[in-house]
Amino acid sequence: MLCVFVILALLISVGGFLKLNANRDAATSTSAMSDVNPLSAPQIPTGSGVPTSVNMGMPGATSVTSLQAPLTASHVARFTLTAQAARLSIGTGVELPVWTFNGTSPGPTLRVQQGTLVIVTLVNHLAFGVTIHWHGIAVPNAADGVAGLTQDAVKPGQSYMYRFFANDSGTYWYHSHQLSYEETGGGLYGMLIVEPTTPTYHEDVDYSIALHEWIEADNQPILTLNSSQKTLNEATRPGQWVRLRLVNTSSSASGIPTLVTLVGTHFKVIALDGHDLNGPQWLDQTPLPIGTAQRYDLLFQMPLHGPVTLVEANENDTLHYLNSPALVFGQDTKPSSLPNVKSWFDLTTYGLPARSTLNLLSHFDASYNIVLNNMEGSSLGRMGMTYTLNGRVFPNTGMIMVHEGQISKIRFDNQSGFYHPMHLHGHVFTVLTHNGKPLSGSPVQVDTILVPPHQSYDVAFIANNPGLWMLHCHNFLHANWGMDMMVAYTGISTPFTIGSASGNFPD
Ligand code: C2O
Ligand code: CU
Repeated sequence: MLCVFVILALLISVGGFLKLNANRDAATSTSAMSDVNPLSAPQIPTGSGVPTSVNMGMPGATSVTSLQAPLTASHVARFTLTAQAARLSIGTGVELPVWTFNGTSPGPTLRVQQGTLVIVTLVNHLAFGVTIHWHGIAVPNAADGVAGLTQDAVKPGQSYMYRFFANDSGTYWYHSHQLSYEETGGGLYGMLIVEPTTPTYHEDVDYSIALHEWIEADNQPILTLNSSQKTLNEATRPGQWVRLRLVNTSSSASGIPTLVTLVGTHFKVIALDGHDLNGPQWLDQTPLPIGTAQRYDLLFQMPLHGPVTLVEANENDTLHYLNSPALVFGQDTKPSSLPNVKSWFDLTTYGLPARSTLNLLSHFDASYNIVLNNMEGSSLGRMGMTYTLNGRVFPNTGMIMVHEGQISKIRFDNQSGFYHPMHLHGHVFTVLTHNGKPLSGSPVQVDTILVPPHQSYDVAFIANNPGLWMLHCHNFLHANWGMDMMVAYTGISTPFTIGSASGNFPD
């Protein structure tokens, strides 16, 4: 396609080998922040095979910079998020050097009413460029926070203003989209909750949890719940209704989802990626697989006796739940013995069927097949395991070109042995089939679909938000090694470029 040609024309080789992922070496400290934070700044890729200047825009008169929300509205919520270094004590005597928004990781949970104009000023007090991407929110393109596509990474000492309407209620999150693997992994993320104008459920307690794995220097992941490696307690009373919002903010090589469940009472999954499910049934100790970037909203009622405990199993052992960290609701301590992991929650059979705007009978203007795989190769000048879309690594993966109103179907055909949580910016996927089989439960809308090894999903989306949007594996390690492409609307250009000239590398 046209853009592949443009990209190839812009690729320039310079020479040299690059090691990108060395930032966890706690002994290295170079910047002015070094006394506060021994994490070394993420390295901008340089050398042979690193693109110098790639422009992802289409020929056309509309620039991404013009795709903005208005400056004011009747309901406005303003926030300032300052990217800064900190030491995070995770409750077990361990202090991690991390990057934060406003001194904490997760950063502040932003809560807004549906329909509000959200205005966020990002201030950068770190020694390297950062951005903020509003994951799952259909923001105007200029607010999407992708370095080299919708803005330049915000330089040290500088700031950037994001404006968007929070039109869809639900559980969302935000994170840096410059060198995302290192920056988001290093702590630059937080949650964004949009409260519905007309609630579907009553809840007495609304609790949100980010599950994050910190990759230590020895490559041993440390799993935390809201930055605690210890068990958390939330005082609740019998009979109270609890809404528990979960997001997985980690990346790992295998991409194996974190499994979570509740012990002590039955529960419902009432929303996936912020979108309500229809007719959710009660579940009992069912393990919920949460891939990177996915969200689950759970609803349960506190029983008359005993606690309700959130437990997790991770990729090291998906058959047994961990003793800690855990989250205990109620006055008691967590149960002394935990159940075994039984068969996983299946989003394709859960809930009740209902009408959905997009479905298998919809007319699709275009269909795309994207094969997910991996192979030894080179990406951004490094040799190693690359993760491919149709056999290619970014920025040679091509584009999906759409026009406004187009209805597209995508088949994600995972031919690899890894899990790939595939995410499209600015839009929502309606899930059509899993391994060719139509869904039998509730309609499912997600922004991130977790495609297990050797399985496939068909999804559909309506092109209703003009701009240039990333489509990538949200396991940032995979994205960092090739697994990204663009969905580009005809006629939308960008003044920004990805590559060593600008220093913009979205992941
Ligand atoms: Cu959470 Cu490219 O996004
Ligand atoms: Cu992946």
